[in-house]
Amino acid sequence: MSQTPDKPRVLVGVTGGIGAYKSCELVRLLQRRGFSVKVVMTEAATRFVSALTFRTLTGEPVATSLWADEAESRVHHVSLAEEADVMTIVPCTANVIAKLAHGRADDMLTTTALATEAPLVIAPAMNTHMWRKDVTQRNVAALRARGVVFVEPGTGELACGDVGEGRLADVALIADAIEAEARRSRDLAGVRVLVTAGGTEEPIDPVRFIGNRSSGKTGFAIAEEAARRGARVSLVTGPTHLGDPYGCEVVRVRTALEMRAAVLARFDAADVLIMTAAVADFRPAAFAAEKIKKHEAPDAVPLERNPDILAELGERQSGVLLIGFAAETTDVVGNAREKLRAKRLDMVVANDVSDPALGFGTEANRVHIITPDAEEALPVLDKRVIARELLDRVASRLTPQKER
Ligand code: C5P
Repeated sequence: MSQTPDKPRVLVGVTGGIGAYKSCELVRLLQRRGFSVKVVMTEAATRFVSALTFRTLTGEPVATSLWADEAESRVHHVSLAEEADVMTIVPCTANVIAKLAHGRADDMLTTTALATEAPLVIAPAMNTHMWRKDVTQRNVAALRARGVVFVEPGTGELACGDVGEGRLADVALIADAIEAEARRSRDLAGVRVLVTAGGTEEPIDPVRFIGNRSSGKTGFAIAEEAARRGARVSLVTGPTHLGDPYGCEVVRVRTALEMRAAVLARFDAADVLIMTAAVADFRPAAFAAEKIKKHEAPDAVPLERNPDILAELGERQSGVLLIGFAAETTDVVGNAREKLRAKRLDMVVANDVSDPALGFGTEANRVHIITPDAEEALPVLDKRVIARELLDRVASRLTPQKER
């Protein structure tokens, strides 16, 4: 890979199943499609196909052990993880799926898979009963929720003699999925994305504030995914328990006014603004410099309006792609469409927060994506997958602009 840095780089992981022989074909096919390929194998995989086969096909050393590369100056699993544009595991056994679902990293392949930020494409192959087991399906669902792409096994005659689901998918289909991920992993290169996240806190006195239930998860997931796809990302966030996402400028603010200042300072340098933040609509009209004593409790806390950051930027008609979020409890699509119009947005992501299992603080959500001329209802998805879906749409809106 070092010799051909311009080619997209795929790291092919091979695990111990009879389908391992087909990954030789996959390596060839990927090379024909213009990828540079390296291979990492589990110990079990080497029982089916020798490392020498892949060494010969790729002209590169094949990683099979965490302990075998004393000559390498860098930690090998980390360098493999970092240089890959896409990682794929073909075939992937039930055992390796289970390990990945639980974050285990006890050999070269699983350690690299855990260390990489590259998209992961998994093509499982196993006996029908193993594939159908609840536990396997739960592990697959857990990985999917984290954004792993599965190329589903096909139905047919299996090596064990059974006929059923579990056969490794067609190699050309696997290569297609890898190509799609490689494209996606670069589709925001150079795009400047400004994201807001979390809720704001509006202080009443030094210890009390008016806040809301936003966790910041969606905005953080969008920022991280955009950075992974090559965007230059600034994330302006209200208070949250989440750590800084990888590869982003992170600006931590508290109040709506602070968020407005931080967003305005970065807006002119942005191509896209994605406002996931739950900005408080009101703030206490007065701030008590000292903590209000129990016996001095006011009868009311007078409020004043906060500026609407997104509406203000919509007014400018700046050409920056403006995306708002709308949390609704009734007529989700109708209200969101009205917001799109009133704030002059390019897109609104609307979610129904009346279902306590979805939305605030949860991992998953069900959203509608609304543009002036279309609307789409997405199924219940993990917030990281929603981030990917949203950025797919952002990327396709930006491409024609960049080509102009
Ligand atoms: O009107 P509503 O508050 O429901 O609109 C939500 C959208 O507007 C979100 O994208 C939110 O980040 C943005 N917003 C804002 N400034 C406010 C209130 C909401 O930018 N003061």
